[in-house]
Amino acid sequence: MSGVLLNKKIVLGVTGSIAAYKAADLVRRLQDAGAEVRVVMTQSACEFITPLTMQTLSGSPVAIDLLDTVQESTMGHITLARWAGWVLIAPASANTIANLAYGQTDDLLSALCLATESPVAIAPAMNNKMWQNQVTQSNLAQLSARGIYIIGPDSGDQACGEQGEGRLLEPNDIVDELSRIAVPARLQGKHVVVTAGPTFEPIDPVRFMGNRSSGKMGFAIAKAAAEAGAKVTLISGPVALMTPPSVTRVDVETAEQMHDASMRHTSDSNIFIACAAVSDYRPETYQDSKLKKTQSSQLQLKLTINKDIVAAVAAKKNRPFVVGFAAETDNVEQYAKDKLIAKKLDMIAANKVGDGLGFGVDDNALSVFWQAGSKLLPKAPKSHLARDLMTIIIEQYYAKNTTEST
Ligand code: C5P
Repeated sequence: MSGVLLNKKIVLGVTGSIAAYKAADLVRRLQDAGAEVRVVMTQSACEFITPLTMQTLSGSPVAIDLLDTVQESTMGHITLARWAGWVLIAPASANTIANLAYGQTDDLLSALCLATESPVAIAPAMNNKMWQNQVTQSNLAQLSARGIYIIGPDSGDQACGEQGEGRLLEPNDIVDELSRIAVPARLQGKHVVVTAGPTFEPIDPVRFMGNRSSGKMGFAIAKAAAEAGAKVTLISGPVALMTPPSVTRVDVETAEQMHDASMRHTSDSNIFIACAAVSDYRPETYQDSKLKKTQSSQLQLKLTINKDIVAAVAAKKNRPFVVGFAAETDNVEQYAKDKLIAKKLDMIAANKVGDGLGFGVDDNALSVFWQAGSKLLPKAPKSHLARDLMTIIIEQYYAKNTTEST
């Protein structure tokens, strides 16, 4: 199994909140990310979701009572506290947050949190008034000051019919956030340059040649690189996307501008990831005024080839680790491998496009090839794929630059 939380041992604490049902999905998402999960529930959590559900999903008995003679003799709170690489409480109720703040140990989960030496993260879930209450906020401030990670909450519609802050984050977002916190920043001190989106090649002041690239994959990769601790420069064609946190964005429009920006920003870079769908050709001449319709039923547009940006970066003297993409409608593997060699790339990530795959959609699947190996990343949201791809890039980057340490 691949995943950012590979081999991480996580005790998932579930407390009494209407959002407890989301903990079932959360177990699956954690497992998908490679984690081994044991579940601890409070008594009131059992009113919202059955221990049997959590036991079946996690594949291990669920611990509930502090004074359970059977459980304490097998995996009691101290053993669980030692076993845990991480304790994640989701949903974390106002009551459990108060217990943790005051060091109360009248249920197994709070006792375990006091006994563990491993990091603890909590994903609060409660009514927005309870969330805003000064007591809750000061409890959270205490926990935060003690190094407990607070994940979320989200805001929006609440089970009580109100609107506001206090909703449990979606399981995928909790896993994303935990991964960000739990996985060491392996690209600290490194500079990663990513190209993303389409290029627009102007024909006249109102028309251009473009393509359907949404930029989502490139933006997700830039985000994953930043999460891994890198300084990230994202060179983006025209897209309608928010810049990920701590990423420096350089907006360009044409392939030529993207080429120039890429050459400039890779001068001190360690990794270059060419995710953009660059227009191979551009109109040979730009018409200063709008092309007029004529009597003729045909119009010929003469095109001229654009520079290959990724190949140009790979040809640099002090080149970074270079990763290209190949979007193909058929013969994906062969074309990708040919491109790896022809463009002198270190790695290529290939995906099939067309028939609802690839451009514009949220899910994607990738086949990744490098000189000595390959890996298939099955269909998943682009944010997850980007993380998994980043993990492979980091491994191969350090494998090539063996003098550097991870
Ligand atoms: O040759 P093809 O366009 O299929 O190659 C795709 C890869 O090359 C992608 O990584 C893309 O970003 C990059 N590319 C480029 N400059 C071009 C054309 C493609 O960097 N002019």
